[in-house]
Amino acid sequence: MIEIENLSFKYKNGKQILNNINFTIRDGEVISIIGNNGVGKSTFLKIISGILKPTKGNVKIDNIDAYQRKNMELIRKKVGIVFQNPDNQILFNNVYDDVEFALKNLNLDNSDKRIKEALNMVGMAEYINEDTFKLSLGQKQRVNIASCLAIQPKYLMLDEPTTMIDSYGKLQIYDIIKKLKENNQTIVFITNNINEILFSDRIMVLEEGKIKQVFSKEEIFDDISLLEKNNIYIPDFLRLIILLNRSGLNIKIKDYSVEELSNSILKEIRK
Ligand SMILES: Nc1ncnc2c1ncn2[C@@H]1O[C@H](COP(=O)(O)OP(=O)(O)OP(=O)(O)O)[C@@H](O)[C@H]1O
Ligand SMILES: [Mg+2]
Repeated sequence: MIEIENLSFKYKNGKQILNNINFTIRDGEVISIIGNNGVGKSTFLKIISGILKPTKGNVKIDNIDAYQRKNMELIRKKVGIVFQNPDNQILFNNVYDDVEFALKNLNLDNSDKRIKEALNMVGMAEYINEDTFKLSLGQKQRVNIASCLAIQPKYLMLDEPTTMIDSYGKLQIYDIIKKLKENNQTIVFITNNINEILFSDRIMVLEEGKIKQVFSKEEIFDDISLLEKNNIYIPDFLRLIILLNRSGLNIKIKDYSVEELSNSILKEIRK
């Protein structure tokens, strides 16, 4: 459990970014954080990962103070974070070495087994001896996720992990998130992508330094304009399903091809 208590933050010489936030992240849940550019989402994620210290307030991770120097290694083992730009996190020109780096730093045992399992989990096992810098952005991001997973962190933080990645690469990362969710991995991710939001149990909206609203998966489409105001694009096919469901149909919300969607609508109408 991550307990966020009266958290406020401002950068040196900057304006107030976060203002007295209280929130609890429960074990096993997937939470997405949404909000407009510059609202403080990445800052918030870094604070609750123990990377940045709040100006006021505190964060306890499994009851451990996230910012005391003596707890640093333990927090690094508990919390893994992946950033938006895959290139910023790759350090070595060999996939194996790259995934091994954090393990060595944290003195974790069984590194060979951990590295292989983590690369397997992200579908990159066959690239284990490849040059990291020759991989596509999507593949690099999967290596970054593997580097995190090898540590077996209880909490996985993802800061817009697919924003820079093409649609095929995005799908592969969604598969990883799906598998992790099935394994009850606690995930907090920042996103502006509706497909990613659909993985979440709860959605948090950040606005003007505060949590403007938290809603559950079931309530996602109750207020489409709230999503749109917060930088979330709703594709037409999804809007169509939402409208049809509001008129009494019961079409499952997922990614459809036009043929699949047409079949699902016809099936519902003929019921
Ligand atoms: N290291 C820093 N020093 C000073 N100001 C910063 C620093 N990093 C971010 N900021 C400022 O803090 C505010 C919040 O930034 P942050 O990156 O957390 O927002 P965000 O919601 O993640 O935005 P985006 O959607 O663009 O990723 C912005 O105004 C940004 O310019
Ligand atoms: Mg950000």
